[in-house]
Amino acid sequence: MDFDALIKEELLPYDTDTYDYRGLIAKILECEDRDLSLLHETVPGCEDSAILTVAHDQCLVFHRMYYQHPLMYKVLEMYEDMIKHYIAPMFKDDVIVYQKRPTFRVQLPNNTAVPSDLGGDPERPGLHRDSDFNHPLGEINFWVPFTQTLEDNTVWTESEVDKGDFHPILTDNGNMLRFYGNQVMHYNKINVSGRTRVSFDFRVIPLSKYNPHMEVKRSVQTGRRFTVGEGIMDYYSTFDKRTGGTYTFEDDGAPSPATVTGEGAGDDAAHVEPLGYTV
Ligand SMILES: [Fe+2]
Repeated sequence: MDFDALIKEELLPYDTDTYDYRGLIAKILECEDRDLSLLHETVPGCEDSAILTVAHDQCLVFHRMYYQHPLMYKVLEMYEDMIKHYIAPMFKDDVIVYQKRPTFRVQLPNNTAVPSDLGGDPERPGLHRDSDFNHPLGEINFWVPFTQTLEDNTVWTESEVDKGDFHPILTDNGNMLRFYGNQVMHYNKINVSGRTRVSFDFRVIPLSKYNPHMEVKRSVQTGRRFTVGEGIMDYYSTFDKRTGGTYTFEDDGAPSPATVTGEGAGDDAAHVEPLGYTV
C-alpha cells in the first residue's frame, strides 16, 4: 500500500488469539477477575486522580505496574511479531521504521488519556497533531484499544487534514485504528462514561519517508530522540522484509545525538522518564 492509501483512516481487525494483549495486560494490572474497563475499581480513589498533564502523563499507578512487570516483555515480543507479520506487509516499502515500544495509555473515569495541557479547549482537551510535538513527518499512527470504546473514552479525530469532521472511534478489543495522527487533529474528551479505556499506540514510517539526516528532536512526553537505534534514548527500530532483520543505513546513518535540538537538548539523564523505560 502506498503512503496516500496508508494515511486514510481505517479500522483493522487483528487475531486476538495470536495477539492476546488484553489477556496479558489484565494479568499485569491484576484485573483478571473483572472486565478490563472496570480497572479503576481495583485501586480505590483513582477515579479522582488529577487530570493528566505533560509532566504526569506516564506516571499513573497502572503505568508503573505495566512497565515494571516481567510480562511486559511478553507484550513486546507479541508486538515485534505483529510488526513483522501484520504491520510491515501493509507497507509498499521493503523497510519500515517503527516505534520500538508502543505507548501504553489508561483513560480513567473523569480523566483524559493524553495530557490535557497539550492544547485545545475545554470541549477538546489536548487537541493536537503529533507533528506539533516534534514527531517527524512520514509517521502513520496505529491506535490499539483493549477495551470497548465509548464516545467519552476514545480518540476523536478528523478524517483528513484540516477537514474538521471530528468523530469518535467506536470499536472494541481486536480492532486497531490506522490514521494520520501526525497531521490530522485529534483529542480525547473527559471520560464521564464510568468505564476505563486501556490502549497502546505506535507509529510507523516507511523508509521512503524517513530522513536519517533530519534535525533530531525529542519526544515532548518522554524526552526520547526520534532516532533509530538500540539505545535507551532511541525511539525507533527498523524492520527489513527482505532479510527479516533490522536495516542498516548507508553512509553515516542516523544523525549524531550531538545534533539534537529543541527544549532540553543535550541532557539525556534529565529526559528519561522516572521508570527508565522506552515508550
Ligand atoms: Fe497524538
